[in-house]
Amino acid sequence: MSRPNPVYCAVDTVDLAEAATLIRRIAGGARPAVGGVKLGLEFFLAHGAPGVRYAFPDPVRLTGIGFFLDLKLHDIPNTVAGGIRAVVDLAPTYITLHAAGGRAMMRAAVEETGAQALKRGLPRPRLLGVTVLTSLDDDDLAATGVGGAPSDQVRRLALLARESGLDGVICSPHEIAPLRQECGPGFVLMVPGIRPQGSAAGDQKRVMTPRQAVALGASHLVVGRPISQASDPRAAAEAIARDVGVNDV
Ligand code: C5P
Repeated sequence: MSRPNPVYCAVDTVDLAEAATLIRRIAGGARPAVGGVKLGLEFFLAHGAPGVRYAFPDPVRLTGIGFFLDLKLHDIPNTVAGGIRAVVDLAPTYITLHAAGGRAMMRAAVEETGAQALKRGLPRPRLLGVTVLTSLDDDDLAATGVGGAPSDQVRRLALLARESGLDGVICSPHEIAPLRQECGPGFVLMVPGIRPQGSAAGDQKRVMTPRQAVALGASHLVVGRPISQASDPRAAAEAIARDVGVNDV
């Protein structure tokens, strides 16, 4: 039996036509090669909701493909709730917010996603917390007033996110095992920094293969350049999916 495809392709371009072409190639047709696509802050600030609808039109969405809207929201609870309200119509499967925004902010986001999805008859978007950005090292973190090891802060924020009702967190490959153990089996661990065997790491410092990440407990993988920059993005995505046990691509 095949498992659901855990691979979300990061579509990291602000070129609308390029984004639309990539998404059509990997997610279009009767058998999408990815489980979903990720559009981030840069794309959303440049093109907004109309851009999302253009690059990721309904005929592609109707194949059941997931949509990860990576906005990393962080503001007072009322404003984050307003941000959520503004994007629920796009029916994102996942939305990100900074767990450092605190319990009240996360709870407001959880309440708002539930209420708005119900009102519009849409599936409830799942909320994922960003813990410590992987671009921050011990010194950077200490400069913001957070002492101790980044891994302790990651754990603290992941547990706070779970307690506040979030569905999971984004985490780096080396955080998978401890967070899976701390947060339990149902918690989403969406993991970037993934490189298939033999592909270039680029600017990613600590990478892991798709198979290793899934074996450690990742529920979802974010893969960008190994798919988007491949000469045949669809074939690259299919190979990654098969490598982690998805047979029906
Ligand atoms: O091309 P690549 O596979 O490195 O893309 C990874 C994606 O995951 C990018 O969209 C990047 O911004 C995102 N990401 C990351 N590391 C994090 C958080 C997000 O690479 N810690």
